[in-house]
Amino acid sequence: MKRIGVLTSGGDAPGMNAALRAVVRTAVHDGLTVFGIYRGYQGLIEGDLAEFGPRSVANVIQRGGTVLRTARSEEFYEAPGRAKAAEVLRAHGIEGLVVIGGDGSFRGAEALHREHGVKVVGIPATIDNDIAGTDVSIGFNTALDVALDAVDRLRDTAASHDRLFLVEVMGRRAGHIALHVGVAGGAEAILVPEVPMPLERVVDLVRDADARGKTSSIIVVAEGAYGGGARVVEQALRERAGYEVRTVILGHTQRGGSPVTRDRVLASRLGFHAVRALLAGDEAVMVGTDRRQITHVPLSSLPGLSKGIDEELLEIAAVLAV
Ligand code: F6P
Repeated sequence: MKRIGVLTSGGDAPGMNAALRAVVRTAVHDGLTVFGIYRGYQGLIEGDLAEFGPRSVANVIQRGGTVLRTARSEEFYEAPGRAKAAEVLRAHGIEGLVVIGGDGSFRGAEALHREHGVKVVGIPATIDNDIAGTDVSIGFNTALDVALDAVDRLRDTAASHDRLFLVEVMGRRAGHIALHVGVAGGAEAILVPEVPMPLERVVDLVRDADARGKTSSIIVVAEGAYGGGARVVEQALRERAGYEVRTVILGHTQRGGSPVTRDRVLASRLGFHAVRALLAGDEAVMVGTDRRQITHVPLSSLPGLSKGIDEELLEIAAVLAV
């Protein structure tokens, strides 16, 4: 293998740039030519790529977002789109592709390999941390710190006004951010899509907290809980029990900011090992970690795996909320 490409795909995550830097520099170190592909699979289909050298990724390790930019390409999810992408790769003599992204991006990479023989390696990067087969994805730890900072600030004002706050964090299908931020922020309740708590029970929890003398409360809600996140919970508290609630939706603020140390180190390790996996002959794997050791997980096995929520941590949170 002489030439490889690298792209970022799906929602951006802090640390993607650190992973890109590691891929480019490892590739050059190992004697490969490396192409940076802009705007994810859509840019690949359109031939939007350039040769990268070590200086192309100077001063990016500390930057959030992705300097390659990213996209969610509808076209690539259809076979003709993937055929166009494969043709662009062939035209540039690119035999291996590193995809920095989440599970949707990996499904696309696996199809590209299956249909066109392109060797692909995935690097797990999403703030949601919902990728099975690896301990943690790039961006998760940074998003936690951003969200936790917001919760801490809200606690100051909640306590000053004796108020009930709902804080909605990202995670359309996964409650990992909510769970960790909720525990670290001392939330009264943590509401996640994986373990739906009946709304009646949420109302009871707030009533009980009042009865125990709590004057202010913070409830952390994952975006995907109840199908509509914090707004659904707000309505229930208001209509069923007359509570006056302040709702804060953190949204995309959680995706921005400089990556924390752990995300940068993880990204550097995974970027390095992604290139080494291609050179070792891996054809379609995700590089990840299992108890911090590097693993190579076949992309084809990922849809069959699931990353469950840590139910013990949910239970601990409930115990500590007395
Ligand atoms: O997958 C990461 C994520 O930030 C989810 O938590 C969120 O639901 C989604 O992306 C938002 O996507 P978009 O940036 O397309 O609005």
